[in-house]
Amino acid sequence: VDSLLVDNYQRRFEYIRLSITELCNFRCQYCLPNGYQSHHSQQFLTYNEINQLIKTFGELGVKKIRLTGGEPTLRRDLTQIIELIAKYPMIKDVALTTNGYRLNERIVEWHNAGLTSLNVSIDSFVPQLFQLITGENKLHSILDGVEKSLANGMTKVKINTVLMKGLNDNLSTHLQWIKHRPVELRYIELMETNSSASHFSRYYVSGASIEQQLIQQGWQLQLKQFLAGPAKVYCHDDYQGKIGLIMPYSKDFCQSCNRLRISATGKLHYCLFGAAAIDLRDLLQDHAQSALLKQRILTTLKIKPPTHYLHQHNAGMIQTLSIIGG
Ligand code: GTP
Ligand code: 5AD
Ligand code: SF4
Repeated sequence: VDSLLVDNYQRRFEYIRLSITELCNFRCQYCLPNGYQSHHSQQFLTYNEINQLIKTFGELGVKKIRLTGGEPTLRRDLTQIIELIAKYPMIKDVALTTNGYRLNERIVEWHNAGLTSLNVSIDSFVPQLFQLITGENKLHSILDGVEKSLANGMTKVKINTVLMKGLNDNLSTHLQWIKHRPVELRYIELMETNSSASHFSRYYVSGASIEQQLIQQGWQLQLKQFLAGPAKVYCHDDYQGKIGLIMPYSKDFCQSCNRLRISATGKLHYCLFGAAAIDLRDLLQDHAQSALLKQRILTTLKIKPPTHYLHQHNAGMIQTLSIIGG
């Protein structure tokens, strides 16, 4: 089935980003430098509520679920959640975005449970810098975890690197790492969050300047693929890996928007940068509510705006980023 989720701008939504916790154990400079005081975990969606969500969105034609957070691997029932989602035949892709903390120890279990794709945040390939940025001395174990996922036959593995001037914008260590590994390394432009306006002006690097360097080094733009998200992807004959550029400040970024987000408390966010969200939780209690739930979702889509508001005013709306995991 083609997705029934189409908005007023002919964008089709077959991809849900579902946050399953707002808690995180890292303190990345650009995200949660002072710690995020969250709800008690009791308040996050339960396994049964997640089941209702997935079933209904599956019936609406959603084909891909990405689990995010906070840090989704902090949920004790993560493996069961992966298993649950993977058993729905209409869901082709069960993906996870993680800081990698538990990767080395758990990736085989998650993969066996039905995980099909993995994104790991690694902002530097230099251990000291990694620790400076994230507050954790875990680079080696995380890279081992990435290797393990490849060895176990995981084919869709990506690394996310948020670009920061003078910290990690020298591309050579990153490029070296993907030379012989089939991993897509994505450079993400730093986004201005509430908590880090001064951090932003000090560290922002434009994706366009990185793109220039890549083109000069012989990297070539790849055509957009099915369910391809916001990244512009480049390849190179000498590299097994690829490079993706995520540039939320670029003008046409939102035209290819293909995803909806659901917060860990069950709110449907129709844009990453909009504070606006519609609560779905009261309709996740019983499958008999499914028709009402569908109605509410379809109504919400009709008010999804054509683009975010970053171009227009200050970034007051981006607090949601750390809560709904991008
Ligand atoms: P796939 O395309 O499924 O691999 O995932 P992804 O790139 O959407 O997921 P990931 O969780 O790895 O997110 C990478 C970065 O893209 C994060 O910094 C997100 O905040 C950012 N991002 C993802 N979707 C959007 C979007 O719709 N708008 C904006 N502005 N940023 C996004
Ligand atoms: N700017 C850019 N990327 C961010 N992420 C979190 N906060 C920001 C920000 N302010 C990224 C993380 C992770 C992804 C899910 O979102 O580094 O890779
Ligand atoms: Fe945690 Fe991700 Fe934020 Fe880092 S960027 S503090 S890993 S939620």
